Amino acid sequence: MSKIALVYGSSTGNTEKVAISIQNQLHEHQVDLYNVQNCGTEFYIDYKNIIFGVSTWGEGDLQDDWESYENKFLNIDLKGKTVALFGLGDQEEYSDNYLDAMGTLYDIVLKNGARVVGMWTNEGYEFNESTALRDGKFVGLALDEDNQSKLTNQRVTQWLGEILPSFG
Ligand SMILES: Cc1cc2nc3c(=O)[nH]c(=O)nc-3n(C[C@H](O)[C@H](O)[C@H](O)COP(=O)(O)O)c2cc1C
Repeated sequence: MSKIALVYGSSTGNTEKVAISIQNQLHEHQVDLYNVQNCGTEFYIDYKNIIFGVSTWGEGDLQDDWESYENKFLNIDLKGKTVALFGLGDQEEYSDNYLDAMGTLYDIVLKNGARVVGMWTNEGYEFNESTALRDGKFVGLALDEDNQSKLTNQRVTQWLGEILPSFG
């Protein structure tokens, strides 16, 4: 399998912690971590496989560093790339906007030509609305460190098992 870029943005460290855990769980593969706050646009050329991680802030907004990066991100060519997304949010406090930022990234990566893998069940979550939910499934791995932190590791492990065969 060719190497993986894992690009994340994180305000209080939760998404960063999950990114590091993914890198550890995939220690047999080359996973290069990038904090989006330091990212340009050129490095994507080196990768066929990309994982994006984002938390949701405000009411349904992109995490701050992702928000600063959004204009550049809108112009990245992702044709020929396989992309998987994971998102962090709080389904209780922000029940009307759970993981909306993952929905925002999904729309951009699709528009930019990526093949998106790693849809995830909505069973086991309780919330009102999410733009990350399409046709009854999340567009990527749904995590909630605020209310369901005990489930994070097993969710990550299962999801990685599902997406790895799609990474060429
Ligand atoms: C002020 C504030 C606004 C938030 N807004 C949302 C939201 O709209 N939707 C959501 O799902 N989670 C929301 N959250 C929860 C965060 O996304 C969650 O705590 C996440 O784990 C933070 O990850 P990070 O530390 O990597 O940024 C909010 C949290 C705070 C403190």
